[in-house]
Amino acid sequence: AIERTFSIIKPDATKRNLTGKITAKLEEAGLRVVASKRIRMSKEQAEGFYAEHQGKPFFAGLVNFMISEPVIVQVLESENAILLNREVMGKTNPEEADEGTIRKEFALSMSENSVHGSDSPESAAREIQFFFSDDEIVG
Ligand code: CMP
Repeated sequence: AIERTFSIIKPDATKRNLTGKITAKLEEAGLRVVASKRIRMSKEQAEGFYAEHQGKPFFAGLVNFMISEPVIVQVLESENAILLNREVMGKTNPEEADEGTIRKEFALSMSENSVHGSDSPESAAREIQFFFSDDEIVG
């Protein structure tokens, strides 16, 4: 079924001017960008977005990283978009990511890993709503 997922081009990538190259990889894989904006995340937004990781040792570092530079938040649409996007991103740890994936090509480390993508339909729905209103998504 046609599905939507939520993606972030993270600070390590925007800082290195990789917005276009990463978006091209998503598009080449068949994902369509149906919403996109460049924002500077507030601390409150980052903490709320990553609430499920609260209490983990990397939480404070993750929040500080996500607010350190602008990010691009996007809604992507395709058949099986959630799984497809995760395949194109590659594993969280770039050392384990497959050849040709975004993280293999661009990620610097486990934390500076260039992109985020929703991991389930429930997360996708929550994450899309967290950053976009319905009228900002144009399919
Ligand atoms: P993301 O998909 O954005 O969701 C949670 C993020 O936490 C993840 O990508 C990584 O960037 C980060 N993360 C997960 N595990 C670790 C870890 N062990 N050390 C540092 N950062 C991590």
